[in-house]
Amino acid sequence: METRSRRSTLFGIFLVAAELILAARGQDEVVDLQLVSRDGRIHVAWEMKNSTNAVTKFLVTWHSDEQPDQSCLVDAPATDTSSCDGFSLRSCAAVTVAVQPLRADGSGIGPEASDVMCPGLAAPPDVSCSQEEDLSLKVHWTAPSTTCEISQYSVNYTAAVIWSEELCKNYSLVDAATLEYVLQRPIPYTFYIFEVRAVVKGCGPGEPRSCPLKTKEEPPSAPVSLKVTANTAKSLSIAWKYPTEMNGDIKDFIIRWYPNNQTNDFLTTDQISYTIGSLTPCTEYNVTVAARNAAGEGTPAQTHGATITIAPDHLVCVQNAEDLSLKVRWDAPNPVSGCTVVKYDIATTIDVIWSGETFNNDSSVDASTTQYVVDNPVSYSNYTFGVSAVAAGDVKGMTVNCGVTTAQTAPSAPENLALLEARSDALVVQWDAPAELNGVVVSYLVSSSRGGEFVTNQTLAASPEQTRFNCTVDGLTAATDYDITVRAVTIRTGAAATSSFRTSGVGQGSSTSTTTTSTKLPTTKPTSTSRPTTIQFSSSTTSTVHPSTDAATTNLLTTLAKDNPASRLPTAAIAVIVIVVIAGVFVFVFAVAILVKNKHFQRVRSSSVISFANELQEKT
Ligand SMILES: *[C@@H]1O[C@H](CO)[C@@H](O)[C@H](O)[C@H]1NC(C)=O
Ligand SMILES: *[C@@H]1O[C@H](CO)[C@@H](O)[C@H](O)[C@H]1NC(C)=O
Ligand SMILES: *[C@@H]1O[C@H](CO)[C@@H](O)[C@H](O)[C@H]1NC(C)=O
Ligand SMILES: *[C@@H]1O[C@H](CO)[C@@H](O)[C@H](O)[C@H]1NC(C)=O
Ligand SMILES: *[C@@H]1O[C@H](CO)[C@@H](O)[C@H](O)[C@H]1NC(C)=O
Ligand SMILES: *[C@@H]1O[C@H](CO)[C@@H](O)[C@H](O)[C@H]1NC(C)=O
Ligand SMILES: *[C@@H]1O[C@H](CO)[C@@H](O)[C@H](O)[C@H]1NC(C)=O
Ligand SMILES: *[C@@H]1O[C@H](CO)[C@@H](O)[C@H](O)[C@H]1NC(C)=O
Ligand SMILES: *[C@@H]1O[C@H](CO)[C@@H](O)[C@H](O)[C@H]1NC(C)=O
Repeated sequence: METRSRRSTLFGIFLVAAELILAARGQDEVVDLQLVSRDGRIHVAWEMKNSTNAVTKFLVTWHSDEQPDQSCLVDAPATDTSSCDGFSLRSCAAVTVAVQPLRADGSGIGPEASDVMCPGLAAPPDVSCSQEEDLSLKVHWTAPSTTCEISQYSVNYTAAVIWSEELCKNYSLVDAATLEYVLQRPIPYTFYIFEVRAVVKGCGPGEPRSCPLKTKEEPPSAPVSLKVTANTAKSLSIAWKYPTEMNGDIKDFIIRWYPNNQTNDFLTTDQISYTIGSLTPCTEYNVTVAARNAAGEGTPAQTHGATITIAPDHLVCVQNAEDLSLKVRWDAPNPVSGCTVVKYDIATTIDVIWSGETFNNDSSVDASTTQYVVDNPVSYSNYTFGVSAVAAGDVKGMTVNCGVTTAQTAPSAPENLALLEARSDALVVQWDAPAELNGVVVSYLVSSSRGGEFVTNQTLAASPEQTRFNCTVDGLTAATDYDITVRAVTIRTGAAATSSFRTSGVGQGSSTSTTTTSTKLPTTKPTSTSRPTTIQFSSSTTSTVHPSTDAATTNLLTTLAKDNPASRLPTAAIAVIVIVVIAGVFVFVFAVAILVKNKHFQRVRSSSVISFANELQEKT
């Protein structure tokens, strides 16, 4: 706000700004053309922008539809038509006046400047403007005396906003009968200049009369971006920015804080930050800041913040080697701080390493205790505890963290233990990793027993990414039931999955199995039986073909069954085959008939076919 001191010369700023806006650009340019009708003639005055010595004369032309054009040469440096005879006018008809700068040789320099006016149409004699109680602006005028018929009044105004240094222009046309204009919501603390002209239809606006006015200040809008920038046990620092609508000269900012309901005891002016001192530790404060100008205090901005609170000291978290419980311990904050702890908040994050899952838990303990115990923590997981002291008024202090990785424990039993293959001397079994790994599974123990007695023992190394395993249990006796037990091993040996399987008999490829646990068997390959008359279409559906059936058909059916083992409707297949065979016979007979007809007949042993053929021949 370094411009504050300039405010007193604001009208100067306004004029400069207005000039900037109104001024034309370029060298040797005619600007600010003023048309004045006096004594029945239009006089012209102008100014030169970036004048050089090139201009020696100005050509001024008056043009009207009602009379022939007139012109006059004005010798530079004069910039008005006082040396000319002027232009006698008939009232109420538009006249266009143009001014062209000329070089010594008579050629034009730069653009021509022109303006239109309604000659003889004087400015409204009295123009006054005022700001009303309700802050609206009222412009008031009286009608000029003229023989022309006034159709409207034009009210053009320029507003130079003092507090934002913006310049706005606008205009309005009001009815000829209305001799006032009201601007309902003017910008506070702004220079307005109203220009009122009478307008004659078909002739244009007459001469203007203006009326300046400075609007009153109004309370500013709320400061923006108010925030707490720092805190100590006994202070809060805040910062903010000026309101967007200052609506006047900001004199100071008023800072209040609650619950104390205190106000800053010295007034700040160009200051946009403040430190509130002598506060109570561990306390939440609401802080408001309002800007003030001559019109009073504006809308306050609000923020809140707490003075520094206490944090738990010497936080440690450990796992008990015996019962595996987790204990989080800390020291109560120093009572000298002046804060009263009402409870401790404990935020727990559990990253289960063996499953990749994360859990969160928020709980609190009473202020009377300084420890937190997790009785059955998840094995082999990263526990992170964030402990914070909470003071009266729910003011939460800084969070202190500690972490511990829980020990590995025994995994649960492997899943889906199943038989892949039974041989006469071995069983090939398969299983999936346990649901609860509880650590890093390094191996599986696979043992076999018979009638409760140990038979074999082996260890299978496991890689971390593997989830399905198999193992061949060797050295077994044919056609015998064995209990196969599998356990996963982390740093501890896990729970057992046990199933009973039977080795195949001598000479047999494989055998069925029985299980004693609820293990689900994965779908096994269909086993073919040694009975020759059974055709197996799938592992679940078989169809018995009677020996009385023609042997060739049986062969065909067997072939089809092999070609189409997925068929689940053998009777339908047989029906299809029978139809195909019958159709074949018909085709054969038809072929024979054609052969007979074409004299290429050859004897066929079947007498019935021959007689049928003969019959056909006789018919033809
Ligand atoms: C007018 O003259 C001023 C100073 O002589 C110069 O800075 C400005 O650029 C000129 N304007 C134009 C439009 O030539
Ligand atoms: C009034 O304002 C309008 C719109 O900006 C403009 O066209 C017109 O020339 C202005 N009239 C005068 C007399 O300045
Ligand atoms: C100009 O005035 C009209 C009404 O007279 C208003 O609607 C408009 O917003 C004004 N424009 C500016 C730029 O103030
Ligand atoms: C702070 O302001 C909020 C709402 O703005 C209010 O609910 C709370 O009671 C205030 N606290 C104090 C201490 O004034
Ligand atoms: C703060 O105190 C002033 C008087 O000192 C009182 O007018 C105002 O209502 C109080 N504000 C609050 C929010 O208590
Ligand atoms: C567990 O904590 C250890 C040690 O801080 C870290 O190396 C490891 O990446 C963490 N694992 C997970 C899954 O968060
Ligand atoms: C969260 O912690 C509390 C206290 O230790 C416990 O009672 C609760 O079961 C835990 N909740 C979960 C989802 O772990
Ligand atoms: C099986 O292996 C384990 C570990 O290798 C061994 O301690 C045990 O003696 C072996 N035999 C039996 C019958 O468990
Ligand atoms: C048995 O495990 C080995 C090694 O993981 C694998 O290569 C093989 O395909 C598995 N056999 C069966 C029948 O799943």
